Amino acid sequence: EMGPMLDGFGRRVSYLRLSVTDRCDLRCSYCMPERMRFLPRSEVLSLEELHRLALGFIARGVSKIRVTGGEPLVRRDIVDLFRALGRELGKGLEELTLTTNATQLADHADDLAAAGVRRVNVSLDTRNRRRFEELSRRDMLPQVLDGIAAAKAAGLKVKINTVALKGINQGEIADLIAWAHGEGFDLTLIEVMPLGDVGHDRVDHFLPLTHVRDDLARRWTLTPLSDSTGGPARYCRVEETGGRLGMITPLTSNFCDGCNRLRVTATGQLYPCLGGAERVDLRAALRSEEPDASLQHALDEAMRIKPERHHFDISHRGAEPAQPRHMSVTGG
Ligand code: GTP
Ligand code: 5AD
Ligand code: SF4
Repeated sequence: EMGPMLDGFGRRVSYLRLSVTDRCDLRCSYCMPERMRFLPRSEVLSLEELHRLALGFIARGVSKIRVTGGEPLVRRDIVDLFRALGRELGKGLEELTLTTNATQLADHADDLAAAGVRRVNVSLDTRNRRRFEELSRRDMLPQVLDGIAAAKAAGLKVKINTVALKGINQGEIADLIAWAHGEGFDLTLIEVMPLGDVGHDRVDHFLPLTHVRDDLARRWTLTPLSDSTGGPARYCRVEETGGRLGMITPLTSNFCDGCNRLRVTATGQLYPCLGGAERVDLRAALRSEEPDASLQHALDEAMRIKPERHHFDISHRGAEPAQPRHMSVTGG
């Protein structure tokens, strides 16, 4: 039935994370193995199906859509989807945005802004070219920095996402924050999550943000803020830079009680929790006799099975990761 989506724990869903491809032009070592096996293109939803699906969520009170991947901008004609969804802004949809690695953002920033995007989240773990290449297995830092500059020039608000990694970028975190704040960008630190087999143990690089915060507090004055972007980050102000610093702490401080999100993979599988195996097949609904009605039934089912919280445990060791789906499949 129509009306807002409420789960069994009284949480209302207003935020859809919509993955449009599992493919990516980088190979960040915490995200994918070098030889990643991607989904066959024939199984991926068409742009028309993605549009129809998004409208179905907006009809149920979703006011924020974040397009994710993989890397969303590697999908051909993806700006057409932004244009189509941009027409819903102000009519139920309040925010249309994306999470990108920015390698191709220079080519698309103006079109995204014209489509109604106001804000982009850019993944950037280092500003050191060699370290970038080690981490992402591709020498593409110059393109990324061009992409970020183009977004700024197009008038987009930029938020930098940095996965905090012990022994990799730990010593650079304060520099990244100072740089981002100097550019007028927010920066959010993220704890690495045990998603997908990446061929090595992420435990070795796990850096609790409680430690990072203590480190930063020796250098700077951090004032907690109550404002939110509707995502999982908790923010503070760095008084010395005047900028906002977010922390996403799935491992050290659970934020699931405030969860307002669902995520859909590029093949139309709805996962009500990033860490869970529960799912609902929206592609089958979209390809049924009565796509809109079937989609609404599927959303009701998703609300029934949305779990209370994830059970990530970074200390989990062994052949199998805690959650076998890769981040690039679920879209975060
Ligand atoms: P805004 O708050 O709108 O700026 O974005 P966001 O933080 O919701 O989205 P973004 O794509 O930038 O994601 C940042 C990190 O948060 C990624 O590592 C996501 O995987 C993670 N994340 C987003 N939603 C969830 C969630 O529900 N659970 C967990 N565990 N992580 C999440
Ligand atoms: N744990 C935490 N964050 C991850 N990301 C990718 N894989 C992981 C992981 N295993 C981040 C990316 C990007 C965001 C969408 O998710 O760096 O910023
Ligand atoms: Fe690509 Fe993002 Fe995964 Fe890096 S973290 S390989 S940029 S999808």
